[in-house]
Amino acid sequence: MRRLFKNIKGLVGCYESPPAWLEGRSMSEFPILENAWLAIEAGRIADFGSMDDFPGIIDWSGLEIEDCEGRYVLPAWCDSHTHLVYAADRGGEFLERLQGKSYQEIAEAGGGILNSARTLRAMSENQLLEDAALRLEHAMDQGTGAMEIKSGYGLTIDGELKMLRVIQALKARSPIPIKATLLACHAIPEGDWDAKSWTAEVIAHLLPQAVSEGLADYVDAFCETGYFGVEELHSLLEAAQTHGVRAKVHVNQFNAIGGVAASVQWNALSVDHLEELNDEDLRALQDGMEGALGPVFPVALPGCSHFLSIPYTPVRKLMDANLPVVIGSDHNPGSAPSGNMTLAVQLGMVKMGMLPLEAIAAATINGAAAMELNQEVGVIAPGWRANLLVTKPMTGLEQMGYRFGDNPVEKVFINGVLR
Ligand code: NIG
Ligand code: FE
Repeated sequence: MRRLFKNIKGLVGCYESPPAWLEGRSMSEFPILENAWLAIEAGRIADFGSMDDFPGIIDWSGLEIEDCEGRYVLPAWCDSHTHLVYAADRGGEFLERLQGKSYQEIAEAGGGILNSARTLRAMSENQLLEDAALRLEHAMDQGTGAMEIKSGYGLTIDGELKMLRVIQALKARSPIPIKATLLACHAIPEGDWDAKSWTAEVIAHLLPQAVSEGLADYVDAFCETGYFGVEELHSLLEAAQTHGVRAKVHVNQFNAIGGVAASVQWNALSVDHLEELNDEDLRALQDGMEGALGPVFPVALPGCSHFLSIPYTPVRKLMDANLPVVIGSDHNPGSAPSGNMTLAVQLGMVKMGMLPLEAIAAATINGAAAMELNQEVGVIAPGWRANLLVTKPMTGLEQMGYRFGDNPVEKVFINGVLR
């Protein structure tokens, strides 16, 4: 299959030879080629250029033409933070919040993550897979071209392995690349556990098994008051390092308790949430830029801030410190029941004050880097996957955030195939 996109108003994120990520101050320089063409072949980007130098079509066989007059073409979204696998939605808890309870009060009363753990226990592996597969299809329809998925609603050895096997099965059947993260330390399981004993159990039994069975690309923990402290985080990340697994850590969602510095110390791949951020955290992230393994990517999850009415991650502060900011969806049944990355990008502009190209770079090239898929997705470059978005006709890229509530994306291509 070959396809030619022609008369593109702006080809966004296109490189002959792309960088691995964009640091804060250069995110607004994510390149745009105006009045462009783009050729794809066998699911990959073949070539691109300016319409002014369009070489013409020599071989018409099997060629499909996509006239993109007035439209932008972008790399598909790279969603580096999701909890896509779960058994049931938590609409009832949303109603409780509308009636005045807080997310934390609901969690303290045994709801929240523990609610999801109870429903997950009761659901068969096969049903979990079928439900998650539908959500994945929906996310791809909405423009997602690569995704990370976490466990974390099992909260027993068997439950967590069940979730990881579901993610493994999604990987096998999905047309987009998927990364799996073991998030056993998501909440303290019901029963006789505390944060310390459950973390020790995870380190002793679950982590080694998940790694040896090839089920976990990364490890994660919810480092937060009432969940897992810095001490547990250190033990978990140290153990992960001995298994050669890097971390993507939930930190600073409600409280800054030192999880950022601990994550940097163990060369985490990303620190996610950061709705709270103090100077010490910022300094730790800046120190992390010198790390031999590359940056510790700061990941903002504006859908969670929107849905829980909590502060937005101060991304301008992070970008001014030249950090490579990422936007993810946090798609989960409690704090962000949406995998719509276009909406996350819109919130990036409207609520976090990002320029259109900064928000787009955060959700594409930097998102890809935050799941080590940046040799495959996140930019438009020869050889990269043809995972692309075509916008509706628009006067400028700011229109993507301007008509909030409207979907600015007209077409999605995954491996060159129209969704
Ligand atoms: O990223 N904060 C921890 N984990 C998820 C929410 C989990 C849930 O409420 O089910 C998050 O917001
Ligand atoms: Fe999350």
